[in-house]
Amino acid sequence: MNKRIRNEMLREKVMTAESASQIIKDGMTVAASGFTPAGYPKAVPIELAKRAEKGEKIGITLITGASVGDELDGVLARSGVVKRRFPYQTNKDMRNSINDGTVKFSDIHLSHVPQWIKYGFFGKIDVALVEAVAINEDGSIVPSTSVGCSNVAVEEADKVIVEINTSQPLELEGIHDIYNPKNPPNRKPIPIEKVNDRIGTTYIPCDMNKIAAIVITDIKDKTREVSPIDEISEKMGSNLIGFLKNEVKSGRLPKNLLPLQSGVGSVANAVLSELKTSDFNNLVIYSEVLQDSVIDLMDAGKVDFASATSLTISPQRLEHFYKNFDKYKNKIILRPEEISNNPEIIRRLGVIAMNTAIEVDIYGNINSTNVLGSRMMNGIGGSGDFARNAYLTIFMTQSTAKKGTISSIVPFVSHVDHTEHDTHVIVTEQGVADLRGLSPCERAVEIINNCAHPDYKQKLMEYYKDSLRTCKYKYTPHDFKVLYKKEVEKIAK
Ligand code: COA
Repeated sequence: MNKRIRNEMLREKVMTAESASQIIKDGMTVAASGFTPAGYPKAVPIELAKRAEKGEKIGITLITGASVGDELDGVLARSGVVKRRFPYQTNKDMRNSINDGTVKFSDIHLSHVPQWIKYGFFGKIDVALVEAVAINEDGSIVPSTSVGCSNVAVEEADKVIVEINTSQPLELEGIHDIYNPKNPPNRKPIPIEKVNDRIGTTYIPCDMNKIAAIVITDIKDKTREVSPIDEISEKMGSNLIGFLKNEVKSGRLPKNLLPLQSGVGSVANAVLSELKTSDFNNLVIYSEVLQDSVIDLMDAGKVDFASATSLTISPQRLEHFYKNFDKYKNKIILRPEEISNNPEIIRRLGVIAMNTAIEVDIYGNINSTNVLGSRMMNGIGGSGDFARNAYLTIFMTQSTAKKGTISSIVPFVSHVDHTEHDTHVIVTEQGVADLRGLSPCERAVEIINNCAHPDYKQKLMEYYKDSLRTCKYKYTPHDFKVLYKKEVEKIAK
């Protein structure tokens, strides 16, 4: 354990998860590590939930980098401990608690979260609860598989609880690059010009007097299984690659493209995997999450370097990843989400942003979060950070959902996450709609013709043409009488 806790005095702070959990009291705000089920604390939340289940009144505000695993979001949602939750989640029970109104949730751009913590928009941070692979002699903390908002949580919290997770290899040390911009008016340009630029430290600075407890655990990250790549995702991938090839041919992209960002979920993972069979080489990634597909692309010799804030390797691939870790270590940087998702850097690097939509409307507005306009799925995550600031913003979706019974191309999205102004290209398994330089009416025709499923094409075109005929204004014509009636009928079903 001396290798993991490198300060004798701090070794005296080692205690059981049960004792450490006593530091967290009713009404507190806890900022935790974790980003896409990776690098989140596990042992302490489980004990916290047990206290609530035994009848203790305990309700907290929980802030994390992004989504976390069941040992944090799941157990605390089921035991009723979480009262407020920011900024993103993917856990079934947390999602249900949000949708039944038990948990007050606010869906926030991930790049904003660290700044909001620093400004105090969430109130005082009582406890930072972070997973680490080691604590240095001076109290600084070496994170595990994600950084997220941990550095800011540690900086702003009154007390810090560290979970040293021995299932996370010490070899992770050195992979992180921690940099914390000052608040305006003292903020300086962030000096990243290439995806592999290192600008910070390999550890999170921490005043060792703030470390109130250290817990040793070996509970593994419960990363999500990725769905096998199906024919539809393959088609989306090849449509996307065809589009990118054409951009290279037209001189709008260099031969090795520009830094790629790819969103979360099975669709994004599958589409990125398709690059494996493409002619593109020497690719670089500037993203927030590195999923299996990036490791595959490194194995295939396609990706030279990847920068993100989290490493979320599926359980099937984890063993291979750690066995060959030496090969990957000098090709990966994990940064705080304030840096991985930073608009300044995304714009400077000219990122190609590829995110998944739930639905897309005929004018190019995107719904990524609310099914039927009301049911929260996961949250906007980093998609807005990238979509708004990328050189090229691509949204992907299957043309239909729920086994073909719903068209993902709709007249009007039932909730807007990304506006028509930020959407450059839409890709479905049917084809590609390049919206750059088109008026809304031209976009509608392009999207319906190229991206909608044949079963819904005619209906969508009828809606568009009827709107064009009946609406007094021809800029973004809509027939709200038809639209509302259809939406109400859909919901009534
Ligand atoms: N209408 C109703 N439901 C729909 C739908 C539509 N048009 N499109 C998708 N869905 C449902 C699916 O049926 C599925 O539901 P289920 O879990 O009950 O089966 C769910 O949404 C997820 O869809 P799936 O096809 O499995 O896609 P995915 O795993 O690739 O996730 C998003 C898609 C949009 C939910 C996910 O990418 C996301 O949360 N995006 C927002 C955050 C983001 O982009 N972050 C990345 C930034 S770096």
